[in-house]
Parts: sequence; structure tokens; C-alpha cells
Amino acid sequence: MQKTLVIIKPDAVQRRLIGKIINRFEEKGLEIVGLKMTVISEGLAKEHYSVHEGREYYENLIKFMTSGPVVMLVLRGMNAIEVTRKLMGSTFGYEADPGTIRGDYAMSKRFNLIHGSDSEESAEREISLFFENGDLTQNEQSGLKWIYDMSGENPL
Ligand code: PPS
Repeated sequence: MQKTLVIIKPDAVQRRLIGKIINRFEEKGLEIVGLKMTVISEGLAKEHYSVHEGREYYENLIKFMTSGPVVMLVLRGMNAIEVTRKLMGSTFGYEADPGTIRGDYAMSKRFNLIHGSDSEESAEREISLFFENGDLTQNEQSGLKWIYDMSGENPL
């Protein structure tokens, strides 16, 4: 099973959308294996977004992401990275499809409510930036067999 990092950004927290956003992932069938609320330090935000350094939006993105509390989730599931990004919708709120989180709740470029890792490599790097290994639950939820067909070798 794949893991991915999701950050519910400061705009979503201030708009009281935490519950609605988490609900989308739970209802889809992704497992929450890590969860915390925190304010990201400038240093960690810069490390997290280091590949975007130099872009015209970079400084404001760092300011925004450190401006208030965020909620961090580690989600686990089959193709968790792709599934999560589909549920999030495309980057800019006004372009995102209805039915996606951004499509339903966001209008802005920067205030786009949520971050999700974009590859296995990023997920691994981002999870280890914000979570200690011991912070993640190793237990599988008992309802998984009703989410995936586990009768074969691989869950489908
Ligand atoms: S994505 O979602 O990673 O594919 O988005 P990408 O287009 O590569 O953008 C990388 C991150 O930069 C944010 N971004 C911006 N923020 C503010 N203003 C502008 N114009 C802008 N363009 C891109 C975008 O939301 C991505 O951050 P995360 O946290 O991953 O969403």
C-alpha cells in the first residue's frame, strides 16, 4: 500500500473546512495513519517547497503556509498518491472540477486549501520531514476488506 502526505492549509483551517476535507478521504476508503495539527516553521516550509525556490510565487507561498495552523495527514491506500490528487482537483481553485475538494471550496491560486504529495519520492521525503516513523500507526483498519476485494493475492 502506498502512503502520501496531505496538508490541510491555513485557509482551510480558518474556514473550518478540516472536517469536510478529512471526510472526503475517509469516505473514499483511504486510511488515516498519521494526523496532527501544527504551525509549520519557516525552515520546514522552505525545505518542503525547496524545488519551487526561485519561482515568483515562492516567497508568498512560504508566508502563507507558515501563517497559521495546518493539519497534516498521512494517508495509506492503493495508489494513494494519485487517488488523493484526483480528490484534491487541479492546482488553482477556479479551474478545479466540481466534485473535487478545490473545485467545490476554492476560488484562489494560493489559497487552494490543500497540498498532496505528487510522487512516491516526494511522499517519502515529505512524510519524513513532518512525521517520525513511530508517529504512524502500523495497524490496518478492520473495515479494509469491505473497501478492497482481498480474496486474491493483491487487494483489488
Ligand atoms: S502541484 O499541485 O504541485 O502540481 O502544483 P504546481 O503547479 O506544481 O505548484 C507547486 C506548488 O506551488 C503552488 N503554486 C502557487 N502558489 C501561489 N501562487 C501561485 N501562482 C502558485 N502556483 C503554484 C501550488 O499550490 C503548489 O503547492 P502545493 O502546496 O503543492 O499545492
